[in-house]
Amino acid sequence: MSEVGKRILVTGGAGFLGSHLCERLLAQGHDVLCVDNYFTGRKANIAHLLGNPHFEALRHDICFPLYVEVDEIYNLACPASPIHYQFDPVQTTKTSVLGAINMLGLAKRVRAKIFQASTSEVYGDPVVHPQREDYRGNVNPIGPRACYDEGKRCAETLFFDYHRQHKLKIRVARIFNTYGPRMHPNDGRVVSNFIVQALRGEPITLYGAGTQTRAFCYVDDLVEGWLRLMAAPDDVTGPINLGNPVETTVRALAEQIIALTGSRSEIVHKPLPVDDPVQRCPDISRARDLLDWQPQVPLQLGLERTIAYFDRLLAGDGQAKSPVLSL
Ligand SMILES: NC(=O)c1ccc[n+]([C@@H]2O[C@H](COP(=O)([O-])OP(=O)(O)OC[C@H]3O[C@@H](n4cnc5c(N)ncnc54)[C@H](O)[C@@H]3O)[C@@H](O)[C@H]2O)c1
Repeated sequence: MSEVGKRILVTGGAGFLGSHLCERLLAQGHDVLCVDNYFTGRKANIAHLLGNPHFEALRHDICFPLYVEVDEIYNLACPASPIHYQFDPVQTTKTSVLGAINMLGLAKRVRAKIFQASTSEVYGDPVVHPQREDYRGNVNPIGPRACYDEGKRCAETLFFDYHRQHKLKIRVARIFNTYGPRMHPNDGRVVSNFIVQALRGEPITLYGAGTQTRAFCYVDDLVEGWLRLMAAPDDVTGPINLGNPVETTVRALAEQIIALTGSRSEIVHKPLPVDDPVQRCPDISRARDLLDWQPQVPLQLGLERTIAYFDRLLAGDGQAKSPVLSL
């Protein structure tokens, strides 16, 4: 055990968000145990951390119990983009539900504080804008997105029952669209899709008219919110929205990315996927009040950093051309 730091378990630590969290925790002087089954995560995301004596990586599927001694747990493991979570929907629900049960069981045994990466998808296709934490959502329980949405909702239920029943210290963050370096190039998410298409000079695919709005948070801002939530007093359990409340239409995003990359890509239209929300925007008053948190990185700066990452990736080892899943 580190003399200065805590022992912190990060499930899904080799993923996009998890790898940034591992970096920040190491920088704060903690010992980090990254657990991942590499379903969507990549060893390349954590390769630069492997030489750090305070970092450890373990291949493990959280659908199975794990016995380790830790002080805090960040439970991030779960495929996050529709392409990935719909690839094996039963496994997605298992990861959310069995994974939560296993991690909560571990937290209970070792009395660790535990954080859940929940999602704005718990609001489904919302009829209330912007979404506050007390909005109960509009989720289709039998649609193709349900494996993710309902899995995450059930995980929240489990967190709050462990809190009430076993007095566990919990933190639940409802994360809205986040982007940045190390997003998976083939995950079908709008930011990575547009950037990769623009850099390759391929047509940019807009679903529907592109008038649907999204609010994009840069990864560094999000991780800062997580750290503040974890450090907050124990009565600050969440759920708490973390995201950027500045809305952009998907069309405006496409145009901005074309301009920033200097691409000649044209915009083409495709039909909207089933249950795709038309508007999604967080009300972050709770995070402002309780955590003194709000996003700092403007979209243009965040996009520039993300474009620079994808530019290197596409020019370099050809990983972006790999199959959708790194199975
Ligand atoms: N990125 C976003 O915009 C966003 C928005 C809302 C919520 N989230 C949540 O944040 C978390 C991280 O998302 P991300 O964007 O980094 O996605 P990601 O796919 O890059 O990371 C998820 C990680 O979990 C791992 N994983 C999946 N199933 C596992 C299992 N059964 N056992 C062990 N590891 C497993 C994957 O290999 C991957 O490394 C997820 O829980 C996601 O639902 C992300």
